[in-house]
Amino acid sequence: MKKLIAGAVALSIIGAGCQKTTSETSEIEIKKGYLIYKNNCSMCHWETVTPEQIRNIRKMVKEGKKPPFAAPPMSEVSARVKKFYPTEEKFVAFVKDYITNPSREKGVCLPMAYKIFGVMPPIGRNMSEDSKEAVAKWLYYRFNMSWEEFMKKHPH
Ligand code: HEC
Repeated sequence: MKKLIAGAVALSIIGAGCQKTTSETSEIEIKKGYLIYKNNCSMCHWETVTPEQIRNIRKMVKEGKKPPFAAPPMSEVSARVKKFYPTEEKFVAFVKDYITNPSREKGVCLPMAYKIFGVMPPIGRNMSEDSKEAVAKWLYYRFNMSWEEFMKKHPH
């Protein structure tokens, strides 16, 4: 019963517009991943961004101003990484490695991202394997837009 309630809470936190999880990846793990995102990633990566926000931020950057965040939003990161690592297994392996040993060569973000924000610091070095796994799975399942859909909705 307890498990069922926790599952329902996780589902309501994750909300609409996410991918269905496989049986190996539980809703509980995704919920844990969300908390890890909140504590370790959200200070740089916004969770999502509206097309209007992207438009305004693009204008600010063009005018030489700093954007209001220090990294691309997670909705964009998720779509972008899926373009290169589409399966859950490859995606999770990439994210776990990237956050531990990030580099310009490995990264798959748009060139603009490195120009504006620089390369991500190795946040994952202070995280447990379990935490890295959970946050990578949250990032995979939280969003379901393809890169092409994302760019069509949020042109920049
Ligand atoms: C201090 C700011 C900062 C924090 C904290 C941070 N990131 Fe990042 N992250 C960045 C920046 C800047 C980029 C874009 C440049 C790059 O990809 O290295 C980025 C890019 C990424 C990418 C795309 C990698 C690529 O280039 O292909 C992933 C995935 C990612 N972050 C995951 C995470 C996760 C998960 C966390 C939390 C555990 C996290 N980040 C915390 C700054 C941060």
